[in-house]
Amino acid sequence: MFDRDTEGVRIELRALTKHYPGQPAPAVDNVTMDIPAGELVVFVGPSGCGKTTTMKMINRLVEPTSGEIRIGGQDVLSLDPDELRRHIGYAIQQVGLFPHLTVAQNIGLVPKLLGWPQAKIDDRVEELLALVSLEPSTFRGRYPRQLSGGQQQRIGVARALAADPPVMLMDEPFGATDPITREHLQNEFVRLQRQLHKTIIFVTHDFEEAIKLGDRIAVLREGSHIAQYDTPAAILDAPADDYVAGFIGQDATLKRLALMRVADVPVTDTIPDPALPQVSADTTLREALDLMLAHGTDRCGTPTGVLSYAELCAVVGPRPEEAMTGDR
Ligand SMILES: Nc1ncnc2c1ncn2[C@@H]1O[C@H](COP(=O)(O)OP(=O)(O)O)[C@@H](O)[C@H]1O
Ligand SMILES: [Mg+2]
Repeated sequence: MFDRDTEGVRIELRALTKHYPGQPAPAVDNVTMDIPAGELVVFVGPSGCGKTTTMKMINRLVEPTSGEIRIGGQDVLSLDPDELRRHIGYAIQQVGLFPHLTVAQNIGLVPKLLGWPQAKIDDRVEELLALVSLEPSTFRGRYPRQLSGGQQQRIGVARALAADPPVMLMDEPFGATDPITREHLQNEFVRLQRQLHKTIIFVTHDFEEAIKLGDRIAVLREGSHIAQYDTPAAILDAPADDYVAGFIGQDATLKRLALMRVADVPVTDTIPDPALPQVSADTTLREALDLMLAHGTDRCGTPTGVLSYAELCAVVGPRPEEAMTGDR
């Protein structure tokens, strides 16, 4: 299925609609969008706007009322739903691990259905546990009740990755974790996706998370209508309307700084100053600014020299339109 590709394939939604019986309006109303191969696209929008319904139509847990879905050029609605779901990773907030199966058996479920030999499944389980930073010898034999919420969510992600599917659907998979665990999972996930290049749709209601993870973000409103669909930087630079601006919040400039790294800014002062607080090449500019504020200095040391507050400001603005009215 999908040419047996384990790297991402393109997903196309065409006039996709779901009208639940007895509901006054469609939950998903005539949505058309393309998710490019190998990209991580985040759906962000308020509760009830249709995110979960859109996802569940892609792996056919919900049957569309009308419209088309193609994955890697194949018409999803013509495929066998059970077979389809074995080739799409699915991770949800409620995790849904089987309580009577061990961690290893939970992760190995889909590979087993696909008929992998046991030795190959065992190797894959080891590999995936290491990938989500859980020591295989400690965790492989545990039951879900013997895990924390954050550990269960990691197992959920490992299980979704198990058969190396080209497509992953992730519906608020880190939603039930505390902020520190969530940040850790997000960082691991970004690192993972850099290696794996799957096509991923990731649902969240947290714009901060969307910016951090997404190659692109689809900001959705009621009926899964697309308010804006673009890269995080483009959305932060130019929100399409007040609705999108409302999602970004008041600190758009800080959020844009969080998208950029020290390595992205060419420094003019190339003489190292070990007396300054030091940052690394992949420190975000937001972290660099925080460090300057914390040290009461307007400069910090980088691997290539010294980064100044003025250089930092130059990277994020002023916005052209603000510059024009900036003489008030
Ligand atoms: N099985 C269902 N039957 C009827 N209405 C549903 C069902 N599932 C979801 N809905 C309704 O469809 C809309 C979209 O829901 P959902 O896709 O779960 O939104 P989200 O994931 O963005 O919170 C909501 O108004 C919700 O009440
Ligand atoms: Mg939902």
